[in-house]
Amino acid sequence: MSEPTGSTPARSPAPLRLARPPVQDLGVRVLGSGSAVPSRVVTNAQIATICDTNDEWIHQRTGIRERRICDPAKGEGNVQLCTDALRRAIENAAITPDQLDLIICGTITQDMRCPSTACVVAGALGAGHAAAWDLGAACCGFVYPMNIAHDLIRIGTYRTIGVIGADCISAITDYSNRSVGILFGDAAGAAILGATDDRTKGVLAQVNKADGSGWHDLYVPAWESQIAPGSDRTNHRLGCLFMNGREVFKFAVGTFQELIAETLTKGGVTVADVDMFVCHQSNARIIEAAVERFGIPPGKVYVNIDRYGNTSGGSVPLAFDELRKAGRIQEGMVVMFVAFGAGLTWSSSLWQM
Ligand code: UT7
Repeated sequence: MSEPTGSTPARSPAPLRLARPPVQDLGVRVLGSGSAVPSRVVTNAQIATICDTNDEWIHQRTGIRERRICDPAKGEGNVQLCTDALRRAIENAAITPDQLDLIICGTITQDMRCPSTACVVAGALGAGHAAAWDLGAACCGFVYPMNIAHDLIRIGTYRTIGVIGADCISAITDYSNRSVGILFGDAAGAAILGATDDRTKGVLAQVNKADGSGWHDLYVPAWESQIAPGSDRTNHRLGCLFMNGREVFKFAVGTFQELIAETLTKGGVTVADVDMFVCHQSNARIIEAAVERFGIPPGKVYVNIDRYGNTSGGSVPLAFDELRKAGRIQEGMVVMFVAFGAGLTWSSSLWQM
């Protein structure tokens, strides 16, 4: 018997037979909504006792008359608002908490750094083993996760998702800083999104963008070295929100209008096709400028900033919930959600309800 003269040729591996689950194309419906605001009402006159401002200036420049502010002594905070909003959305959707596959909470004002607000809310409501995470997109805190949740349901990853948008900006506000103290309030809103075989329902177009080069126009420095180079340090307080109001205003007016135009084009619709615009309540003048440019009939744009101020991630879902409860948003309607804020971020979601 002769010795082998060379090495045995390697056998090619058997072809892998693992099948990845097929990507689905499901419709997505809003099954329910809910919202929560603190019980304490703070008027412009009360703000004027803390910083150099007055009711007339605030109302003329922002549209705000009053806002709701959490009272920590009563246990009010971000988690409480989020829990109440999601509980109400679950009840409105006529489901049970353990039917949720995922909870996403869009917030930048977590009561605790760890764990996520979404996990604490899931525990409080008995949401079983639903996945849960927070998403930090400031005033886009509802629209960013709404788009993500929609797409996860559409491709079949999850069937039922609770999306929360919430902020307790009072926890990071220095009320002696008048550009911030007059503007913001606390609120949370939530929606339950669910899969449907009706593929006409869901997002028709979405835009999710950011420009991180503008982060220093709206931010919360935690320590001295984070204060943006070249800025006036006396305007900053560690742990508190700093806003370059004029710059953010310019960004907001321009971006808001481009965002609406881009979303209309992507969705292949006109203003006349949209039944309701649910806009981030940042400043009534910013909304008015968009209404004027696009000739949007007043009945198609909701404004509640007079009662709540700018509630950051809570503003869009709070407006959405009020509109649904008032019967002004119904199944079958075309609805555009639009938001922009710190980051800088901007985001839209055009829905066939
Ligand atoms: O949601 C996240 C995104 N955030 C926003 O979209 C907010 C965008 N920015 C704004 O809404 C506005 O910039 C503010 C409401 C914050 C400020 O309004 P403004 O019209 O941009 O005021 P300004 O800073 O240009 O100041 C105009 C005048 C100044 O007086 P002079 O220099 O003209 O004499 C300010 O000193 O108003 C004065 N001023 C105030 N007076 C009374 C500024 N703030 C106040 C105040 N009360 N709170």
